[in-house]
Amino acid sequence: NTVNEATAKPVRTLPDAQTVTQVQHWTDRLFSFRVTRPQSLRFRSGEFVMIGLLGDNGKPLLRAYSIASPSWDDELEFYSIKVPDGPLTSKLQHIQPGDEIILRPKPVGTLVHDALLPGKRVWFLATGTGIAPFASLMRDPETYEKFDQVIMMHTCREQAELDYGRELVESLQDDPLIGEMVAGKLLYYPTTTREESPKMGRITDNLTSGKVFEDLGLPPMDPATDRAMVCGSLAFNVDVKAVLEGFGLREGANSEPQEYVVEKAFVGDGI
Ligand code: FAD
Ligand code: A2P
Repeated sequence: NTVNEATAKPVRTLPDAQTVTQVQHWTDRLFSFRVTRPQSLRFRSGEFVMIGLLGDNGKPLLRAYSIASPSWDDELEFYSIKVPDGPLTSKLQHIQPGDEIILRPKPVGTLVHDALLPGKRVWFLATGTGIAPFASLMRDPETYEKFDQVIMMHTCREQAELDYGRELVESLQDDPLIGEMVAGKLLYYPTTTREESPKMGRITDNLTSGKVFEDLGLPPMDPATDRAMVCGSLAFNVDVKAVLEGFGLREGANSEPQEYVVEKAFVGDGI
């Protein structure tokens, strides 16, 4: 993959403009980028904002994006799909350091610590770009203050699609800020479904069969101890919810914390 870093000084011309500082392409369908952070922007790890570019008609073309960086970071990071004919990402995939994007500084979302009751273990369950909010939460000290164990399950069709998450998890161990908090607490469980890899299978199947509990040496999920945050396609979210409810966990919200919370990683065709 390629990393480009900004050298030019930012010149801002758009409303709510932020300047791209780094772009990294992971596959032909996935890239991540970093932008300057508005000084006034406060957010809770796991939340999303609206970002975009000016459309051909001169109006902002905006989409929801999870903030992938932690709330203590000076910059903001995003992890994005490239939809070949997608109105936004067909253009966004070509951004370069020094370019501007639009960022509406109003963070919202349900994948926040406030929406969960206290517990012993927290499960982050993601497919595809659904790992983005967890890239933020895995880098947040609050995650390790609140839970003894943090389990990151990420499933993609192919191995290369796991690289962004894998590199992030590996870098956390040496992180000067939270490396010590993470050590021994963060358990990473990446799987593929359509390419051979060390661990395979859908998250739903690995939870229902008990394979992930056996592999990690953990007891089955229990509403007394286990919490979960879910982010993937609508089909994935629906199926995982049924699995979590089967373990006795109930869905929470900012206004009413419970044992698990869910957010869509994208709005699918016709949904
Ligand atoms: P759109 O017209 O928006 O989408 C075209 C089609 O592409 C969709 O119908 C769907 O089938 C597919 N698609 C869209 N997004 C994805 C995706 N992420 N993975 C797989 N298929 C997809 N996208 C990100 O890449 N990163 C994020 O962090 C992110 N966070 C989101 C948070 C929320 C709460 C929601 C609702 C969506 C989020 N999305 C995220 C999706 C994002 O808003 C856009 O849909 C995406 O950037 C594509 O925009 P587009 O205009 O190119 O195509
Ligand atoms: P699978 O290859 O068995 O469909 P997609 O690219 O279609 O969004 O899928 C991303 C990952 O999520 C794939 O590994 C896929 O597995 C898995 N997945 C898709 N739908 C579901 C679902 N309903 N339940 C569990 N996993 C799912």
